[in-house]
Amino acid sequence: MQPDEFRQAAHELVDWLAAYRTHTAELPVSSRVEPGSVRAQLPPTAPEEPESFAALVADLEHIIMPGISHWQHPRFFGYFPANASLASVLGDLVSSGLGQLGLNWQASPALTELEEQMCLWMRELLGLSPAWQGVIQDTASTATLVALICARERLTSYGATRGGLQAEELPLIVYCSGQSHSSVEKAALLAGFGRTNLRPIATDGEHAMRPDLLAAAVTADLAAGYRPCAVVATTGTTATTGLDPIAAIAEVCRQHGLWLHVDAAMAGSAMILPECRWMWDGIEMADSLVLNPHKWLGVVFDCSLYYVRDAQHLIRVMSTNPSYLQTKADGAVINYRDWGIPLGRRMRAMKLWFMLRLEGAAALRTRLRRDIELAQWFAAQVDASANWVRLNPVHLQTICIRHEPPGVEGEDLDRHTLEWIGRINTSGVALLTPAVLDGRWMCRVSLGAETTSHEDVAHLWVALREAVE
Ligand SMILES: Cc1ncc(COP(=O)(O)O)c(C=O)c1O
Repeated sequence: MQPDEFRQAAHELVDWLAAYRTHTAELPVSSRVEPGSVRAQLPPTAPEEPESFAALVADLEHIIMPGISHWQHPRFFGYFPANASLASVLGDLVSSGLGQLGLNWQASPALTELEEQMCLWMRELLGLSPAWQGVIQDTASTATLVALICARERLTSYGATRGGLQAEELPLIVYCSGQSHSSVEKAALLAGFGRTNLRPIATDGEHAMRPDLLAAAVTADLAAGYRPCAVVATTGTTATTGLDPIAAIAEVCRQHGLWLHVDAAMAGSAMILPECRWMWDGIEMADSLVLNPHKWLGVVFDCSLYYVRDAQHLIRVMSTNPSYLQTKADGAVINYRDWGIPLGRRMRAMKLWFMLRLEGAAALRTRLRRDIELAQWFAAQVDASANWVRLNPVHLQTICIRHEPPGVEGEDLDRHTLEWIGRINTSGVALLTPAVLDGRWMCRVSLGAETTSHEDVAHLWVALREAVE
């Protein structure tokens, strides 16, 4: 494709996307296609000869769009929001168009330095101290894996450069809460700890890790001859946005020399609001933390901010230095390839920069405050209604609920819950995700889509009451 052809096609596509975003609210929120139906419409092999742009756009409309669930829909209340603010979409377009690959500083000085500066801007917006240094990773899953590898290497004095975990005499132990995201277990497995050396700690009535039980587990492991290594605490758990007590957990870590990683993938965005920072009180005592601007904050996926207190340790664990990547600038600059797993990196900071420049922090704060207020309103409706039960304290944007008609219990209650959520989802009026909490299915109402208004939340509340009847 030549630049002139690109210009024309891109204009058309931008118009197409703008029209999509203008009318998203009119579409059913979740896709209704049957498994396999999208693939069945795609040819089995790639075309040998070029096809027209018009034919491609027609297939985009007729084959792809029916298979799209609309994450940017104002009544998308599933999972967690993955806002793709249009300002950040522009930044992503520029990043792709420039086609940069940050193998080292020299390969793209602006890529590195924009990332450095965005990590600093965000550190300040989040109220973190200058003790933290940041890097943009693809996802929180990767960042947590990196954190656990760093924890392992600190405890074993860089054992990976010798025999690795296979040479360790005593098993290393990782602790998390029973409500941690599945990425924590995955990271512990991939970092070589092994499932039997992962200790899920029980949670309290507000779904937060109990630090007394954490301390007891560490003591028991020490007595049994194991080596406690790391704790992953969560600010904003996936099922309920539970808040692990970071300060108390950090104290246990301090006493026993454990690495503390804080997974604030979802709730981290809320830390741009000073009134929310109590939720991760004690954060300055952690070794590493991750938050996802690609969730609530609005940067188009993927953009995870990973902050560490000891960047030199991270670099020592992650660095590679083949001759073809060495430059004269090394030593005076950051080479982000040494701050994580992949070598090549996209210019992810561009979409964050575009969003912060074109929207401004004040507007982001206003939007997040709006969502917290909407969640409070929704929680109040649930609390005031017979047979509806709220299952979590609502500090953020997620409300966990169950409809419990008299006499419906146990598996019958599970069936009822999944049925009414299914009815809402197939109706297309909204999208909700069920989850199991304390052994019973419940419904997560996860607010925070960029375009959600009070009207949308009120609409959901009406639809829910109709769906349970
Ligand atoms: C608390 C928490 N941690 C980690 C993740 C994983 O995020 P990612 O998709 O960036 O790996 C999620 C995803 O929702 C999450 O809620």
